[in-house]
Amino acid sequence: MDRITGEEAAARIAAVNDLGQLDELERELIGKTSIIALRRRELGKLPPDERPAAGAMLNEAFRDFKSRLDVRRRELETAAEDRLLEEERVDPTLTVLRLPRGYHHLLTETAEEVVDIFTALGYAVASGPEVETAAYNFDALNTPVTHPSRLESDTIYVEWGDPADEVLLRTQTSPMQVRYMESQEPPVYVIVPGRVYRSDTLDATHSPVFTQIEGLAVDEDLSMADLKGTLQYFMERFFGEGRRIRMYPHFFPFTEPSAEMAVSCFNCDGAGCRVCGHTGWIELLGCGVVDPNVFEAVGYDPAAISGFAFGVGVERLALVRHGIHHIRHFFENDLRVLEQFR
Ligand code: DAH
Repeated sequence: MDRITGEEAAARIAAVNDLGQLDELERELIGKTSIIALRRRELGKLPPDERPAAGAMLNEAFRDFKSRLDVRRRELETAAEDRLLEEERVDPTLTVLRLPRGYHHLLTETAEEVVDIFTALGYAVASGPEVETAAYNFDALNTPVTHPSRLESDTIYVEWGDPADEVLLRTQTSPMQVRYMESQEPPVYVIVPGRVYRSDTLDATHSPVFTQIEGLAVDEDLSMADLKGTLQYFMERFFGEGRRIRMYPHFFPFTEPSAEMAVSCFNCDGAGCRVCGHTGWIELLGCGVVDPNVFEAVGYDPAAISGFAFGVGVERLALVRHGIHHIRHFFENDLRVLEQFR
């Protein structure tokens, strides 16, 4: 092409619908190889008196094409932006995809609440092995080889035979009393949450695996009165102001004297209701004054110190507090159940 009129150029520019094509057309109309550029280079061949007019005409054409190209470019850019805005428009009426938010299991939540009550009193928190030796689970806890709890009908053994080599799934968190005292000089204030195992068949209140929290305090002159005061405080913090506790004799090999503790029913305040089986009291935990034999097993001097201990079932705490009727709900992990306690 060696000629192009203003109208032709204007028509072609107006017909372009895409920025890439517009760039191409710009090169063709006013680029280095365009007719305008070619004619400019040839200006020198014209007679000198014709050069200014011819030059002015070329400049005029250049400016005209350039401004038409720029206008079209802005139009196309605006159109592209409008398209983008339209495509990316947010529809606020669309339903939002809601990701379910996680939460702690009720057992974790309950155990943490108890742990918090005791750490606020200055207790340390410890944890220990679930696969334990009979030496820690029984012997060091003053439990003789003949004690019925050591039978296979009660304890799940990993290695069974000579009591000195026996390995088992711990039946209680109490062996951690021994492990902790072995690693620590008195005074000791420690709380130990953890899983324990028994050869139990599942029923509404028993499960072969459950959760305990062990408490141990060892210091100069600790007595049953300190134990009672501590448990009273624990129960009021856990079940609410005004709870009363009651302790009555029991037997555990590792405490002397030993006791069980009941708390006045948080639901009926002792009048009797379904929660407390119409007794007004809820039996909750075992406890006692640490037997001197346990201190001797860990190398503590029973003449210099004394202590108290207790063990509480976490499932039982949660069962009574929330009126849950079967312990299996803690282990089946049915979200319809667990969501009620988030
Ligand atoms: N270990 C006992 C159990 O599993 C509970 C217990 C009773 C723990 C008395 C203690 C205690 O520390 O002093 O039945």
